[in-house]
Amino acid sequence: MKVSVRVPATTANIGPGFDCLGIALPIYNEITVEETVMPGSGIEINIIEESDTYDILSIPRDENNIVYKAIDLLYNFVGQSVSDIKITIKTDIPVTRGLGSSASVIVGGLIAANKLLGSPADDAVLLSIASETEGHPDNVTPAMFGGFCLSSIEEDGSVTYTKKEWPEEWKLNLIIPDYELDTGISRSVLPEKVSLEDAAYNIRKCSMLVDAVNKKDKELLKKSLTDKLHQPYRERLVKGFKEIKDLIRNKDDILGCVISGSGPAILVISEKDGFEKIQNEIKELFNEINVETDIRTLNVENTGSVIL
Ligand code: HSE
Repeated sequence: MKVSVRVPATTANIGPGFDCLGIALPIYNEITVEETVMPGSGIEINIIEESDTYDILSIPRDENNIVYKAIDLLYNFVGQSVSDIKITIKTDIPVTRGLGSSASVIVGGLIAANKLLGSPADDAVLLSIASETEGHPDNVTPAMFGGFCLSSIEEDGSVTYTKKEWPEEWKLNLIIPDYELDTGISRSVLPEKVSLEDAAYNIRKCSMLVDAVNKKDKELLKKSLTDKLHQPYRERLVKGFKEIKDLIRNKDDILGCVISGSGPAILVISEKDGFEKIQNEIKELFNEINVETDIRTLNVENTGSVIL
């Protein structure tokens, strides 16, 4: 028996919502988990690249594979151990670009393995295992449920989340560069401790952001998208970010610009034809710094993971 699951990409943080906010995007990975017929055949991990654009060779094919690790935790939860299993990942989500590729394969692997086991774990357990494996819940939550999600890992490891409707007219423009930025590296530049002043700044901005989404208030959204917890430290790792921030200043129908997840992709939120008007300038800006980009304008993905 085998089970395949389709899981969307995600963009996390959305500026001030570090490790807590995320939005699902309509780019997908497909994860298939099957019990191998031959006992003793061990773990087999295959990765098939759909778009042939991104380097997937660095993804481990053994027990160090993150999908395997997540599935192992699920088996432990039900009192079993993984022995012979085949995992196939068809990947269309750009890897190490800040678009939730690891969250998508963790979530897909867990949902597929759970189904294979006869669905012993509910969504809450799967979300908790996925967040533990990933280290934070902001990508895995929208990858599971779709939409714009707020999530929090609680002291007992459970995840509290809410899913909200992202205004359809607020377009998500992703500028995906041709270089990788590992999340571990992007997190290593963050300080272990921050000042009360910076923490309070982000609480204000993050609350404002959620309220702006609830009310579809674009002026409030424009004021809310800044942060002092991660972007100031990551800026030097994300080519073009500073320049784009300068470029969009006071531009009509551009609501803001943030690092997508831990980067290096950049998310520009726009209305109407705001982004089209500046797209050529953005391309020129990246040409000047010798970075090739794949620019995509996307709507929110509201479905989340689906068993195929
Ligand atoms: N919240 C995470 C970070 C997202 O900013 O490091 C990346 O997985």
